[in-house]
Amino acid sequence: MASQPVRLLREAIDGFTVDAVHGVLGDDAWRALARSETVPGLRATADGSALSTLIRLFQLQAPVPLAAAERAFGAAWPAAQELGLVEADGDEVRALLDVRPYGDESHDWWVVCDLTPGLDGRENPRDPLYVLGISEASSSLAQLTVRPPVGRALDLGTGCGVQALHLAGHAGEVVATDLNPRAVRLARLTSELNGLDLDVREGSLFEPVAGERFDLIATNPPFVVSPPEGDRLVYRETRFDGDDVVRRIVGGASDHLHDGGWCQLLAAWIHRDGVPWDERLASWIEPTGLDAWVVQRERVDLPEYAEMWLADAGLRHAPGHVERYDRWLSWFAEQGIEAMGFGWITLRKAGRDVPQVRIEEYTAPVAQPVGADFLAWADRTDALAAGDLLDRCWRLAPDVVQETVGPVGAEDPAVIRVQRTGGLRPAHQADTIEAGLLSASDGDLTAGQILDALAHLLDRDAAGLRETYTPVVADLVADGFLV
Ligand SMILES: C[S@@+](CC[C@H](N)C(=O)[O-])C[C@H]1O[C@@H](n2cnc3c(N)ncnc32)[C@H](O)[C@@H]1O
Repeated sequence: MASQPVRLLREAIDGFTVDAVHGVLGDDAWRALARSETVPGLRATADGSALSTLIRLFQLQAPVPLAAAERAFGAAWPAAQELGLVEADGDEVRALLDVRPYGDESHDWWVVCDLTPGLDGRENPRDPLYVLGISEASSSLAQLTVRPPVGRALDLGTGCGVQALHLAGHAGEVVATDLNPRAVRLARLTSELNGLDLDVREGSLFEPVAGERFDLIATNPPFVVSPPEGDRLVYRETRFDGDDVVRRIVGGASDHLHDGGWCQLLAAWIHRDGVPWDERLASWIEPTGLDAWVVQRERVDLPEYAEMWLADAGLRHAPGHVERYDRWLSWFAEQGIEAMGFGWITLRKAGRDVPQVRIEEYTAPVAQPVGADFLAWADRTDALAAGDLLDRCWRLAPDVVQETVGPVGAEDPAVIRVQRTGGLRPAHQADTIEAGLLSASDGDLTAGQILDALAHLLDRDAAGLRETYTPVVADLVADGFLV
């Protein structure tokens, strides 16, 4: 439960929400800040109000007058200093940490993290123990995560506690772990500030939860693959070889999942010379006995990868950039790395003799939040594993649309394309039989009965049609067209 200083702080910053900040900044300054530019924001926060003062301190990282800070924090002014959020230097006050409003459709939260680097073109090389705030990757995992009500959830590598906040919305108990003691401290502060009771523990990977099981594990691990020398930035790199951190989490998940439990990772993996990436991933997954759905969202070439992460570390304009960049590429070559893959790994402990494993590349835009589609995947894999697909009465999923293309004036289209508008938005090119099967699937007839009727109508051999279209029905079920 929250200490007295945290309770006072919570009261003082009540109303410091995402919407309120957006309201004060306005659209232009809000977007400028997203591009790391603070000037429009400074112009919008010149009124000296408590909200403007908090925005200047934390979001814009601008010094504020001591009197304004005392007014903004009120009774919590000593607490804000005691908790290490701000420091006064004569008549000026600066933020030492970020207290960042954050939320989803039904919550307003704050996360406590390190200050965002790189505002106004400043390049600050990051401290090895830097604690990340809300990144694109954090949001991506939050959208990917399945959200059924669960008993116990684990946020592995919690950082500022962002995933744990989301998990607290649908889990009875949330454990959050991190190797970085600073992250543990800040995640605890995040927890208290939001009036939550997250169980935050320090340690590497599954060590702090040895012998414990969960219904849902969500993790955005430090998956950056880089040359091993020098300081590692703990928020993005480990001391494990290459992409071994991902292999270890995949390999360790089963022992920490209840039956029916889920483990979801945002991850990166090496494409090694001569080894298909999906075979590498399959070799990590198969020994676990878990169902898996791996989606490679992006294949990044090595120069782009090195540039991205050197810039992320604030080293783009630092002395030695050319030598450092060259070293990254030499190291990749020595390791036999030819590209990097980035994507999503979802594992489920379905307890099957023959696990359902699906590994694919899918780079097209998806309908967010995509987590609902991953949740539905559990039902689809159960249906596929049960077999007898032609003896079931399927329904066309409500999000399927059809597009036809053909010569102008032609009676029949040359191409029929069906697509789901939800989830991963998969598309299929459908022939007449497939289109007929989809449109007749309203839950009354079995797929086999519909195929028999189509065979009769189109003067085709019914047994042959059943044989040909069994794998097609399986694909349509696997992609969520038939539910
Ligand atoms: C990419 S950040 C993710 C932070 C946050 N969960 C999010 O979604 O934005 C990875 C986190 O893993 C932590 N970490 C690094 N090595 C770890 C390890 N061996 N075991 C557990 N956590 C680790 C880092 O300190 C960092 O907080």
